Parts: sequence; C-alpha cells; structure tokens
Amino acid sequence: MTTAIIGTGGIGSVIARQLASGGETLRLSSADTKSARRLAAEIGRGAVAAAGNRDALQGADAVVLALRFAVLKSVIDEIAESLVGNVVVVPSNPLSADAQGNLSRLLPKGQSSGEVVAGWLPPGARLAMAFGTMSADLFESASKRSPERAVLFYATDDDRAGEEVERLIRTAGFEPARIGGIEQSGRLEVGGDLHDLIVGPAQARSLMGGA
Ligand SMILES: NC(=O)c1ccc[n+]([C@@H]2O[C@H](COP(=O)([O-])OP(=O)(O)OC[C@H]3O[C@@H](n4cnc5c(N)ncnc54)[C@H](OP(=O)(O)O)[C@@H]3O)[C@@H](O)[C@H]2O)c1
Repeated sequence: MTTAIIGTGGIGSVIARQLASGGETLRLSSADTKSARRLAAEIGRGAVAAAGNRDALQGADAVVLALRFAVLKSVIDEIAESLVGNVVVVPSNPLSADAQGNLSRLLPKGQSSGEVVAGWLPPGARLAMAFGTMSADLFESASKRSPERAVLFYATDDDRAGEEVERLIRTAGFEPARIGGIEQSGRLEVGGDLHDLIVGPAQARSLMGGA
C-alpha cells in the first residue's frame, strides 16, 4: 500500500521511517523538496520524493499532513481537489514556537486542531487525527515494543478513515485505539490527557473511559 507524507520534518520523517520499516510504500513532499529528497534517499527502496504536494497524492491510499498548524490551511487549499474521497491523517498540534522555542497555543482553549482542520477540508475528505500524540523521539523509541505493543490513540468520525489509520498505526509498530470522533481529538493534543503516553491496550481502555 502507498501513503503520501507531506512534511518531512521532525514528526513526518519519523512517521516515514516507521511506516517504511513496516513495508509501506511512500511518496514524500516538503516545502523545497530538498528534505523530501534527502529522506527518500535515506529510506531507500519503497520511498520516492514527489515533484510537489499534489504529485505526492498520485496513487496514494492515504495522505499524512505532517505540517505545522500555521501552514496546514494553505497546503489543504493547494491540494483540496485531490483530498476528496481520500483518507487524510493529521498529527498537528495547534502550537507555534518563537525564536527561543517557547510554545504558544494558536486556538482558544477548548477548540481542538481536529475540529478546525475538519472545517478546512473539502466535503468528502476522510479525516483522522493521529500520529501527533507523542513527541517524535518517544514515537520512534516506542515503536514495535514487545511483548506488548504500545497504543497509538486516534480520533475520527469516518469508519473508512478509521480502518485505514488502524492499518497505518499497525504498520508503524503500534496498537491502534479509537478514542471517539473528532470532537474528542483535543484529548490527543499537547496538554490533553492522552498525549505523550506509552501504555498497553488494557491501560489504554481504562484511560479512554476516564474523560
Ligand atoms: N516534532 C514532534 O515531535 C511532533 C510530535 C507530535 C506532533 N507534532 C506536530 O506535527 C506538526 C509538524 O511538526 P514538525 O516538528 O514535524 O515540524 P517541522 O520539523 O517544522 O517540519 C515541517 C515540515 O513541513 C514542511 N512544509 C512546510 N511548508 C510546506 C508546504 N507548503 N508544502 C509542503 N511541505 C511543507 C517542511 O518542509 P522543509 O523540510 O522543506 O522545510 C517540513 O518538512 C506540528 O503541527 C506539530 O505540532 C510534532
């Protein structure tokens, strides 16, 4: 199966490496194509740098938008036509960082990245909020944990997106757990009760009930 990853920075590159090591074919795209080309070369077989964001979606079964919140809308607008009917996976937290690295939230308290992104997508796009629930380092080190896989939580309103994101989560070396619809996705973000947790399925089930 083939996944497009738009954004090959801190989290996009780790998602790409984990999916590739699970056998996924990747089409990568970044702002200036250099970092996508570098990552495709590093991963080797099964990964290609696309000619641009729209080209990345050619033949892809899903697209991961591994982009900072501030650029998400412009990229969604650029590729909107190609998103209709497609599974769109978004790991973005609604944060920005200043020159000193201090983080600030870009949305009012109580409004989640998922709810805002859902409003930016064209009708027919199938959104799942996933792969942004851990820092890149934690995501990399928790992949393929044994004997029990670590859980990656996700949220979606769309069953088809749920099936696809569960396949991707397993391919990346985790056990999927759906916390509910997009209205629940604030729980996955930085500051949410399910963010940056390494738990197995039993503990995940008990945490999910504890909203
Ligand atoms: N990093 C983490 O640990 C982490 C963990 C969980 C969630 N997240 C979330 O994931 C999102 C991305 O974070 P990040 O740390 O990966 O950011 P990042 O390191 O700044 O990477 C952003 C990527 O987006 C690409 N990009 C920017 N504008 C683009 C455009 N118009 N078209 C195509 N690609 C474009 C950049 O391309 P270039 O490479 O060419 O500059 C870069 O590859 C954020 O919303 C963050 O909250 C991050």
